[in-house]
Amino acid sequence: MNADGWLADTRSSYDTVAVSYADQLRGALAGTPYLRAALELFAGMIHTAGGGPVADVGCGPGHVTAHLHGLGVDAFGIDLSPAMIDVARRDHPDLRFEVGSMTDLNLADASVTALLAFWSLIHVPDDAIPAVFGHFRRVVRPGGPLLLGFHIGDESRLKTEGYGGHPMKVHVHHRQPVQVTAWLRDAGFTVEAQWLLGLDGHIPGAVLFAHRQS
Ligand SMILES: C[S@@+](CC[C@H](N)C(=O)[O-])C[C@H]1O[C@@H](n2cnc3c(N)ncnc32)[C@H](O)[C@@H]1O
Repeated sequence: MNADGWLADTRSSYDTVAVSYADQLRGALAGTPYLRAALELFAGMIHTAGGGPVADVGCGPGHVTAHLHGLGVDAFGIDLSPAMIDVARRDHPDLRFEVGSMTDLNLADASVTALLAFWSLIHVPDDAIPAVFGHFRRVVRPGGPLLLGFHIGDESRLKTEGYGGHPMKVHVHHRQPVQVTAWLRDAGFTVEAQWLLGLDGHIPGAVLFAHRQS
């Protein structure tokens, strides 16, 4: 699978489902107290760091970006899918959203106080993760917090439809937190905590808290 292939497939898949994804996920944080708590903790770390811009990478329709904004964080969103960005701008016209890829993050060095990637790394193949984490380290200020959310597991599967039966062609990579932690350390992050979510009845997930080493 070449890089352009999976990126193009992921982009067109989320372009196809953007409106229905937004409809299904709107208000979802209200039913996920542990994610809300993680975001509150993250927001507290950002305030302690003195505030400043925070990138939500793979922001989708921007509901998490907006939640952070509601916690007093100067959050903006970046997503691979132009249709997702259109929906994010429609739903949150007062916030900033840009099309872009975490594989080629178009942000200046040390230009954000913190970075969030919620369930967007799940589409990035293993061999591209070190370069993505290299970009995360490059753009986050020294000492700045990082918050990642992803599916736990060992399998990768091809998702061929979703969000109301729309056709998709997107790989979903489940990972063990110990693997993601190792990649983060190699990229120059210190991992501080991991929360394990949804162990009964849901797809298991992990939220990792880290910060950029100086
Ligand atoms: C499952 S959705 C998660 C959206 C949002 N973060 C949330 O928590 O609801 C995955 C998102 O990641 C985006 N994405 C996938 N690969 C990406 C990449 N290389 N760069 C930026 N965004 C990407 C997709 O377009 C999609 O909007």
